[in-house]
Amino acid sequence: MLNVEKIRADFDVLNPESPAKAPVYLDSACMSLKPRQVVEAMNDYYANYPACAGRSSHKLGDKVTKKVKKARELVTEFINAKSDDEIIFTRNTTEGINLLANSLGLQKGDIVLISDKEHNSNLVPWLRLRDKIGIVVRICPTNEDGTFNLDNFSQLVSGAKLVSVVHTSNLDGVTNPAKEIIKIAHQAGALVALDAAQSIPHKKVDVRDLDVDFLAFSGHKMLGPTGTGVFYGKLELLEKLSPFLVGGDTVESTSYDSYKMLPAPEKFEAGLQDYAGIIGLGEAVKYLSQFDFKYIAEHEFKLNAYITNELQKIPKIKIIGPEDPKLRSGIVNFYIDGTDMHKFAVMLDEMAGIEIRSGRHCVHSWFENKKIYNSARVSLYLYNMMEDAETFITNLKKILEIL
Ligand code: ALA
Repeated sequence: MLNVEKIRADFDVLNPESPAKAPVYLDSACMSLKPRQVVEAMNDYYANYPACAGRSSHKLGDKVTKKVKKARELVTEFINAKSDDEIIFTRNTTEGINLLANSLGLQKGDIVLISDKEHNSNLVPWLRLRDKIGIVVRICPTNEDGTFNLDNFSQLVSGAKLVSVVHTSNLDGVTNPAKEIIKIAHQAGALVALDAAQSIPHKKVDVRDLDVDFLAFSGHKMLGPTGTGVFYGKLELLEKLSPFLVGGDTVESTSYDSYKMLPAPEKFEAGLQDYAGIIGLGEAVKYLSQFDFKYIAEHEFKLNAYITNELQKIPKIKIIGPEDPKLRSGIVNFYIDGTDMHKFAVMLDEMAGIEIRSGRHCVHSWFENKKIYNSARVSLYLYNMMEDAETFITNLKKILEIL
């Protein structure tokens, strides 16, 4: 079991004495809170060794190099990659997917298969390549309740060069059957990339067990700093990718008319990096690694089940995704037909400091297709208490009475 009280003590923003007065924070799918350990690690960099990694041979530079190396090792272990060289630091999941889209060497006519529930970050890069060079973007329809349809997938994967799908959806919290998807895709000769932005913070993701070819995730949803992310690729595949950002630190040597690229990961990490962020991300990985993900999932389920059960008693509220909260991770995304859900989010915050996200959650395509205007989304994490869920429901009911 999680000791939520102890966990909460690590998050200054959750202290009632903090300037934020401990909000009821239910928006971790957008941005997780940061434990003190992460903030302190970053401050330590800026205060005590704010130098470059991998370049300068003085003491401060050496310390940054070692800390960045350590962060890479921690991530390698966290996702069970084979080698540190498979870990590329990025700014976020979006950058990871763009890196792939622009480095894979896709040609006119190549097919990329995605699902009908992708975040814009796993839709727009492919649509743009369709418009620029003529790749074909194929969309795999999910079931009516948002769960993955393996039959549709098996039919549509034929001829695809790449499958790029979300692991856990930020829309409805559904986790796609990644292992089966990857097996079927590989049998059909396609490579597979997973958008793991919403899965990595909540469940154990083992890249070798999944046999996934590429994986992208963000630091900011997993207790880490903003502007940090990771792109993983099997080393033999990374060797073949041609980076789309080049310059300092990506090359071994240059002359006025030639350059020799370094191997992965250096060839993908152009220019000075966000060292404080990378070190903070390493600290977030260390922090998360102290918990058994089984307990995080159980805790989120308990809160999700309570909220779901209460919302299901209100006939006009519709929950996006499967009815069973077990299938929705820490996410409860809901709407009322013909209602702008922004006003619910704003009123919850004004009335009781309850912070949720409203809108289309960067999955505009899905909302357009379903003709749903927008929704209000609660997303839970390890620091939320049952009391947060109860406060949310009490205040939501008050708002429904007012409106
Ligand atoms: N993908 C983030 C969210 O779902 C921004 O809120």
